[in-house]
Amino acid sequence: MDQVILGIESSCDETAAAVVIGGRDVRSNIIATQHDLHERFDGVVPELASRAHLERIGPVIESAVREAGIALGDIDAIAVSYQPGLIGSLLTGVAAAKSLAWSLQKPLVGVDHLHAHLWSPCLGSHELECPALGLVISGGHTTLSRMQDPLHLELLGHTIDDAIGEAFDKAAVLLGLGWPGGAAIDALAEQGDESAVDFPIARLAPDSLDFSYSGLKTSLLHAVRGQPVGRGAEARFQRDASDLDAQRRRDLAASFQRAAVEAVRLKVERALDQHEASSLVVGGGVSANRRVRRVLGETCEARGVVLRLPALDYCMDNAAMIAGLAHPLLEAGLVSDSTLSAHARSRN
Ligand code: KG4
Ligand code: ZN
Repeated sequence: MDQVILGIESSCDETAAAVVIGGRDVRSNIIATQHDLHERFDGVVPELASRAHLERIGPVIESAVREAGIALGDIDAIAVSYQPGLIGSLLTGVAAAKSLAWSLQKPLVGVDHLHAHLWSPCLGSHELECPALGLVISGGHTTLSRMQDPLHLELLGHTIDDAIGEAFDKAAVLLGLGWPGGAAIDALAEQGDESAVDFPIARLAPDSLDFSYSGLKTSLLHAVRGQPVGRGAEARFQRDASDLDAQRRRDLAASFQRAAVEAVRLKVERALDQHEASSLVVGGGVSANRRVRRVLGETCEARGVVLRLPALDYCMDNAAMIAGLAHPLLEAGLVSDSTLSAHARSRN
């Protein structure tokens, strides 16, 4: 039966709530972003994020219920993202979800945030074709998994340093584009020459499905500011980012993006060589990137694999994906109880 599920998401810097029916039919999707709070620090400040979630979670849930045109009593279950993420941020959502589930006497479903990103292509769409390869490319994570069915993930690879979105964000700060700057690099790269600088693509061991973005980040730093001169605390860069002319900035953005996305193509191709898959399922903020969407489209077409990308509304952190994945979890009896707690890292 199609259940009405209220989802809550507060793992990082978006406070979100959504109502989804039957795992796919999104009736409301409210997201209160905190970018204005964190941008002057060029990154998320966990303590500020927790406080902002606390202020916003009540009104965001109310808006999601109102916009869906339902009453609290119509909700069949409450779903919440409980791992991985910033612990103080996650705790706000988990406490709100537990209170609601208890007061409404409805089941509580704890949902893994990364797993939910892989449900985002199902929102407003159909079933996943399994076995699938799952690719999460977000601000905090970069993972490749095998999905025997939509509920069971086996981790094949992950980043050994920065996440791809984190690399885009740091690159954007370096290029003077502000934070979070993934979308700004995407836009600027459109007018740049992607072959201007041959940035490194981290291959790692020949059969590795792990990712690494710290070398690319350092190469961009040196391309923008020159090699450091001097040693230790005395070291100084030769140039400042403000010395870049407009075309050089576009070329660096395009060249950085090419290297970052080619690493994704390489690891996806390796994974498809190593594992049988009917589809490639993608989620996370970086799946909004135009080059990512084009490159993965080419790879999947060449391999005869179905590509399942999220609609642009569901790439970034949202609660619709949490409420969506909760539907098959609930049907499988995978419910939580009042002992549900938050975890900074995924635990299975
Ligand atoms: O999935 P998400 O909302 O948060 C995490 O779970 O981490 O992803 C946010 C990330 C940020 O790093 C942001 O810069 C990046 O997604 N992003 C993009 C684009 N739009 C958002 N990166 C590259 N190109 C884009 N168009
Ligand atoms: Zn996320």
